[in-house]
Amino acid sequence: MTADTKTAPAGDAAEKTFTFTNDQTGESWQFPVVEGTVGPPTIDIRQLYQQTGHFTLDPAFTATGSCKSRLTFIDGDEGILMHRGYSIEDLTDKSSFLEVSYLLLYGDLPSKKQLDEFIRSITYHTMVHEQIHYFFRGFRRDAHPMAIMCGVVGALSAFYHDSLDIWDPQQREISAHRLLAKMPTLAAMAYKYSIGQPFMFPRNDLDYAENFLYMCFGVPAEPFEVNPVHARAMDKIFILHADHEQNASTSTVRLAGSSQANPFACIASGIASLWGPAHGGANQAVLEMLAEIGHKDNIPEFIERAKDKDDPFRLMGFGHRVYKNYDPRAQVLRESAHEVLHDLGIDNDPTLELAMELEKIALEDPYFVDRKLFPNVDFYSGIILKALGFPDTMFTVLFAMARTIGWISQWKEMIEEPALKIGRPRQLYTGPAARPYVPIDERK
Ligand code: SDX
Repeated sequence: MTADTKTAPAGDAAEKTFTFTNDQTGESWQFPVVEGTVGPPTIDIRQLYQQTGHFTLDPAFTATGSCKSRLTFIDGDEGILMHRGYSIEDLTDKSSFLEVSYLLLYGDLPSKKQLDEFIRSITYHTMVHEQIHYFFRGFRRDAHPMAIMCGVVGALSAFYHDSLDIWDPQQREISAHRLLAKMPTLAAMAYKYSIGQPFMFPRNDLDYAENFLYMCFGVPAEPFEVNPVHARAMDKIFILHADHEQNASTSTVRLAGSSQANPFACIASGIASLWGPAHGGANQAVLEMLAEIGHKDNIPEFIERAKDKDDPFRLMGFGHRVYKNYDPRAQVLRESAHEVLHDLGIDNDPTLELAMELEKIALEDPYFVDRKLFPNVDFYSGIILKALGFPDTMFTVLFAMARTIGWISQWKEMIEEPALKIGRPRQLYTGPAARPYVPIDERK
């Protein structure tokens, strides 16, 4: 089958089409080319099967667009990431996580009044139902905090019956605010539970990042002053993880939402998907990898292992399905790592030194250069989080916390599309042809 793009003859509506031709039969079919604001054009193949009797085959969706979206644009070759048209560099430099959350959820930067009202709503939704405390008691103290988050976030739908009607815009908005507000509280509870300390209630006099750090590192026995540099670094990390187009966990949330499941269940499905070390679990895997490497003299051995197809070892925090250039988020995080560590008086942190030496060596190696494998968002984030005092088991929880606004904004966008359809991919069947059942006493 061959294909080419045609533009409609002059005078007609300038509709571009893509023609597929079956080289065996000579039949041809035309499909509309659909272009967005920026980025590669797409071929609308929704009628492909009806017209040609063929499915497409694209395991892992390397070249398949699943939806139209106005939230986030990534240019992998140029290393560009923008939310609703604003660059990630501008947003991390000039905005705040709750302002970016408003932008993702509602489409524009808020006025002062809008932002104040939004912050007040989020602040007054940070507490969780007291019964939820009992959920934690059911887990072992050494349960991975992501296991707890999968369970507890899904269970929120058992508590908030007044915001489960996905067709009611008000209930959609309340669910979004509740999830954004309660994720830090639940994440801090998961951390406190794992270290056997009492839960800390949220404080309405602190901002989002300060409140989270307070709930994690404060104790009832004495006052806790949040370090403003740590709070700013935390807020920046949240912004950098907020949304990222149709990644695996966002696609999971959209697919779950397409069945009209409630938003809490959909976000729980996103948390489960993010947990994998190929995705959001990579930040924890990076720290484990750096600990395994141990010293810069061992880097060449691990670089060789990463290149060896017979060795499952991969350079965690390196490579990306979309970025074939430096992940812009990794750039910001690398600078932030230096700031936070300097503020902590750690000017030559061995882990950061090792990470930077590993990056330098890898980016001089043809294997990584030829495959355009650069550090991604997960390569430096763990170093900062470790310096802030978090155990590596909490790193992906923080990623899930920050990504919740992206997930729920993408979910809301999908639900608000006219004529929501359930997502239902097809397949290429390669199993046995039809065959008769064989009674067990006749089998070999
Ligand atoms: C995130 O999608 C998103 O946007 C995700 C994310 C987000 O914000 O939501 O950005 C967050 O998940 C970042 C990625 C975190 N994961 C890791 O750091 C894990 C290590 N990275 C790899 O597992 C891998 O790079 C992926 C999973 C990130 C991307 O895999 P792809 O796009 O499927 O690429 P591939 O496996 O086809 O690799 C292409 C080639 C292969 O070699 P060849 O077959 O061409 O010889 O590159 C090699 C791979 O073996 N390769 C690596 C490598 N990553 C790819 N070799 C060594 N180390 C690596 N890390």
